[in-house]
Amino acid sequence: MSSIKVIGGGRLKGETKIQGSKNAALPIIAATVLNKGITILRNCPRILDVFHMIDVLKELGCIASWESNTLIVDTTDITSTKVSEGSVQKMRSSILFLGALLGRNHEVSIAYPGGCLIGKRPIDYHLDSIKSMNVSQEFLGDDKDIIHCYTDKIMGTDIFLKFPSVGATQNVILTAVLAEGVTRIFNAAREPEVLELCNFLVSAGARICGKGTAFIEVEGVGRLHDVDYTLSADRIVAGTYMAAIAAAGGEVLLLDTPTGQLDSVIRVLDRIGCSIRINDEYMRISCKRRPLPYDILKTQPYPGFPTDMQSQLMTVLCLADGKSTIVEEIFESRFQNVSELKKMGAMISESDNKAVISGVMHLEGAQVMAHDLRAGAALVIAGVAAQGETIVRGATSIERGYEDICRDLNSLGANVRYCSDNIL
Ligand code: EPZ
Repeated sequence: MSSIKVIGGGRLKGETKIQGSKNAALPIIAATVLNKGITILRNCPRILDVFHMIDVLKELGCIASWESNTLIVDTTDITSTKVSEGSVQKMRSSILFLGALLGRNHEVSIAYPGGCLIGKRPIDYHLDSIKSMNVSQEFLGDDKDIIHCYTDKIMGTDIFLKFPSVGATQNVILTAVLAEGVTRIFNAAREPEVLELCNFLVSAGARICGKGTAFIEVEGVGRLHDVDYTLSADRIVAGTYMAAIAAAGGEVLLLDTPTGQLDSVIRVLDRIGCSIRINDEYMRISCKRRPLPYDILKTQPYPGFPTDMQSQLMTVLCLADGKSTIVEEIFESRFQNVSELKKMGAMISESDNKAVISGVMHLEGAQVMAHDLRAGAALVIAGVAAQGETIVRGATSIERGYEDICRDLNSLGANVRYCSDNIL
């Protein structure tokens, strides 16, 4: 298991370019299966989750290759409709092959994705919605944990989502693109990554209205065609580095930042004392003072404050000049960082989905564990802001979503490097 060593204490200065979006790349890689041909995906982040999705494509008989950050995928031939348990357990976004393979082959077998540390993460909204599109479902295997879906014809219908689930919205869209008739999704997720999947599919010949809204209408078409698509930048990676400035202080330029997708994050950071100026080329963000507290910060579906930024803001508010409260409304257990930040001197009390943070003057470097992707990134930020040395173990989980967090933070003036566990 790899670790990240951080020597903290300095203010940040410099500039870095924001990588392509992980959560846009993953559904779009699954969507390539809907086209019997070639897809070129530019600005694709070279991260573990993308590599896992490519492994699944290869399991299905597809060909994939890289040219720098351009991923070239040939999905002309699909020789299997089975997504192995290993693939799904490794990464739950493999569940998006459910809709894509159904759309392409009218059949798919895929293991139930496991929960993870941030919650149980069921897929009932996915399965209930897809079932209503004339798709039969059976549960196979000794533990009934293999989902086998099949149909002779996918029929468009009206889908009412109980919750604006990102994955369920994306899986319904993937199932509907080549279906007979029109599928209307009510209470659809409005995350930018849903909009980006729709933009990709429309550029490949799909017919979709209401992209990015809570009401999406998909009119089935006969086939898709080859497409050359450029992914937008990753809003959560950008937000992570914005939080680093708020925690450590300094002034930096973030290039290629998807500022239009960060309104709620910009509003919060502005409220706690950051100065943020945006133009076409870059975002300039500076923080010249100790962060101000934030009374009550609630995570919400987009365009509300993103749950994927919750851990990073917790790190910042640990250093605020007063008391803040964070309420996690999306996942049932996304406060793993509380115990880790306390090792660094943070003062946090949590109960249920509420964490109350009493800001301290500074954090002390310590050995901490990354429990999930965003929590790990938030601990690296804590190390950058802390006094002394911090070792973040379990850094592999950070590499799932950050192409090179050490490279990026060091270009902003931090002192961060990967190290293997055995020299610690
Ligand atoms: C996506 O996960 C993101 N992942 C997550 O980012 C993000 O935190 C999440 O959306 C919320 O914004 C990708 O895009 C690959 P959901 P997803 O379905 O689709 C419950 C990261 O760090 N639910 O919107 O799995 C679920 O348990 C990751 O990049 C059901 O109950 O999220 C959760 O409480 C972490 N039944 C809530 O809805 C279902 O069938 C939101 O989940 C589906 C979801």
